[in-house]
Amino acid sequence: MNKATYTVDVPGDRFGVLEIIAEHEKPLKLMLVGGVDSGKTTLLTFLVNSLVESGLDVAVVDSDVGQKGILPPATISLAFPSGKVSAVSELEPFAHYFIGTTSPAQYVGEMAVGVKKLADLASGQADIVVVDTTGFVTGVGIDMKRLKAELLRPDFTIVLERSGEMESLKRILSPYTRVLTLSVSDRARPHSPEERRLIRAAKWREYFSGAGTVDVDLKEVVPTGTELFHGSPLGVEAKELLESVFGWMVFAGWRGRHYIVVKADSGKLPRHFNRSALHAVDFEKLSNLLVGFIDESGLCRGLGILKWLNFHEMRAQVLTPLGDEDLSESVEMRFGRIRVLENGEELGLLRREEL
Ligand SMILES: Nc1ncnc2c1ncn2[C@@H]1O[C@H](COP(=O)(O)OP(=O)(O)OP(=O)(O)O)[C@@H](O)[C@H]1O
Ligand SMILES: [Mg+2]
Repeated sequence: MNKATYTVDVPGDRFGVLEIIAEHEKPLKLMLVGGVDSGKTTLLTFLVNSLVESGLDVAVVDSDVGQKGILPPATISLAFPSGKVSAVSELEPFAHYFIGTTSPAQYVGEMAVGVKKLADLASGQADIVVVDTTGFVTGVGIDMKRLKAELLRPDFTIVLERSGEMESLKRILSPYTRVLTLSVSDRARPHSPEERRLIRAAKWREYFSGAGTVDVDLKEVVPTGTELFHGSPLGVEAKELLESVFGWMVFAGWRGRHYIVVKADSGKLPRHFNRSALHAVDFEKLSNLLVGFIDESGLCRGLGILKWLNFHEMRAQVLTPLGDEDLSESVEMRFGRIRVLENGEELGLLRREEL
């Protein structure tokens, strides 16, 4: 299922952009910015096809983590189109950067770093790097676009606008890039949250189809992106004390900047406690959590769904489509902030500070 596909209905102003690109020295970087459903990915498809057809080597960085074309979701991906495509989802990915959530408001740093990292990887191999972005263009979304522009320094940023609604974002971006404004097509169609969820579900399902469960040794592969596992492990006595005071079942705990424990409630009334001194994570929040397998260069080899954690033995059971080679190259298992099932059902987002 694809939201944006190649279209023959191309608004006239798109051809002006192609001329500007053709005349500009190469290599060049181009970022696409616009609100939700403004037609960014449709424009990307048109640009990629036109540029590839004109004989240029093109790289695509898909950073629309919420509605990505290139699998898997919740990452930023780099691809090198070798010919015309009818949808971005047809592109074979070359590399990924892990974000770990489809809602990146708390991950603006990772978003900017990931785009920069993949664009750097593409440079030298492409005449033009085109970056697709999320439709998140208000609040923190503005900072996210600015950080991307600051780091990446795109030669051009194409802003899709209806009537002046992108004016302040354009001003904010203008020190870092040359802004070109294009009209939103009359055919650009809004998608309801339900439609967007169904599109994501199909992508998750596709990515995890054929996945198998692997046993990950967390003494070898470092768990990152979480406060869990960091600090000195709590001993049996400390755990029993917490269990008796709070009526929890404590699976594991560490003492670092503060105490952090993984627990399950046993039905007793919760007691009040100082949450800045003791951070308690429900064991349930870790089940079906999205994780990323990260290699030595900081790139994401692929995703997994956390099925079970054995704290005592420091082992994790993870459902993943990755094979032995990718897994053996992975040095980190990074915790994401979305819980999802292999059938595509999203169980919920977590806040960054929850883990
Ligand atoms: N020029 C066009 N001609 C026909 N349909 C279009 C055109 N531009 C956009 N659309 C349609 O509008 C919808 C939204 O477009 P698209 O997915 O490209 O937007 P987007 O800005 O990438 O959205 P998102 O914020 O989800 O990434 C799609 O269904 C797409 O097919
Ligand atoms: Mg899009």
